[in-house]
Amino acid sequence: MNADLYFSEDTVLIERSKSAFCYAIGPFRLYNLNKDGVRVLSLISKKNTLNEIASAIAGSKNENINKIQKVLKNFVNNLQNKGLLTSEKLTKSYSCHFRKIKTSPELHSVIFEVTRDCNLNCRHCYVLNKNSRQELTLSQIKDMINEATDLGVWQWSLTGGEPFYRNDILKIIEFLTQKLIVTNVFTNGTLLSKSFISSLKMLRIHSIIISLDGEQGFHNENKTFKQSMKVIEDMLSVGLKVKVNITLTRNNKNELPHLCHHLKQLKTPYEIGTIFPRGHGEKVQSLNLSEQQFGKLYKKYSYATDFYLLDSLRTDNVIDTNTPCGVGNKIIFISFDGSVSLCPSLTIEDDFSFFAGNVSEKSIKDIWEKSKTFKMYRDLNCSELLNCNVGSTCKGGCRSRAYHVYGDVTASDKVACAIYGRHEE
Ligand SMILES: C[S@@+](CC[C@H](N)C(=O)[O-])C[C@H]1O[C@@H](n2cnc3c(N)ncnc32)[C@H](O)[C@@H]1O
Ligand code: SF4
Ligand code: SF4
Repeated sequence: MNADLYFSEDTVLIERSKSAFCYAIGPFRLYNLNKDGVRVLSLISKKNTLNEIASAIAGSKNENINKIQKVLKNFVNNLQNKGLLTSEKLTKSYSCHFRKIKTSPELHSVIFEVTRDCNLNCRHCYVLNKNSRQELTLSQIKDMINEATDLGVWQWSLTGGEPFYRNDILKIIEFLTQKLIVTNVFTNGTLLSKSFISSLKMLRIHSIIISLDGEQGFHNENKTFKQSMKVIEDMLSVGLKVKVNITLTRNNKNELPHLCHHLKQLKTPYEIGTIFPRGHGEKVQSLNLSEQQFGKLYKKYSYATDFYLLDSLRTDNVIDTNTPCGVGNKIIFISFDGSVSLCPSLTIEDDFSFFAGNVSEKSIKDIWEKSKTFKMYRDLNCSELLNCNVGSTCKGGCRSRAYHVYGDVTASDKVACAIYGRHEE
């Protein structure tokens, strides 16, 4: 028990109102903590030995030291197994960064549309009004990241358009990861050279979510399938975490078994989705399978995937969201021009009530806590949730799909109903 302990990597400890968790962004690991856990990490960062920590905690709790030593040993072993702590002195010394979520309700995550520009023109694309020219500048983006980090936001997803089409994208990612923010990027993957992939790895990006729909998929209108497949293999070869987004249609459904088999062999998780009737997506609705057909294939081929959040967030049970993605109560969407709304496909362009303000005019905290939009949509969910036999697993499906398909943001998401096997009374 007299051993010294060190952080294996720079670690972030996020204090919530009633609990806490910590993570390191290297290969991402997450750990839930109670009050004592927070205290132990704080004492380790002040270079206390295990014996000193045990005495301090036993003293303050008026507990038997042997009992505390046993619990402490167990706790430390767990963190060592997760790779967050080590008893070996490393050549580089790492520390623990203490942060607090200062918003109520707690805002955890930002989805940021870095650009609307794109090098492809997919037939199903929901992105409206591409080629917009009033993007936030790098300096405005950095201010926004600083502001969100100060509020305790610890996860950013970058999307577009095509994020890698933006010239300064590496600078944005670097700024985020230097702040130890868990960062992932949604991409069509066609602009990623090997050297670019090495840079992403060096920047310690958390993961890349790449669209891959098979030879007959939408991202293949420019013959990009083989290119994207090669990019996935290049990313995996440098140890990047990759997840695939498949848009399933009548055209590519026969390719699904082979594509999924291949991805499983690469141990690459994937998510299978439908086409929302938004933007170009409206014109190709006839390519969607029926909800029942889709649900059947989804169940048959899904593989260690989660609906919307990063897998680790779900499995470690860190975020208690109302819906699977946390729309309205854990996440915000910021458009290329700084306007804030519910999610990438529930924006001002869909309905003015989804617009909550602009980051260049109001603070993120004010927008999140005081705007009419977030007040109105805070508990947004499926209106049938409480009477639904699979409500507790489905958690309400996708609110955006409900809105775009049925015109009501609280309607049941029939695709989710089919996936989870809802029995209608
Ligand atoms: C809008 S794109 C932005 C990132 C990047 N350009 C890409 O294609 O991955 C994000 C994801 O939305 C999906 N998507 C685009 N239009 C869609 C639609 N109408 N319905 C459902 N998903 C759609 C894409 O296939 C992609 O997986
Ligand atoms: S789906 Fe992605 S790659 Fe395709 S046009 Fe839309 S933004 Fe571009
Ligand atoms: S299965 Fe359907 S009805 Fe039940 S909660 Fe999910 S979306 Fe709502």
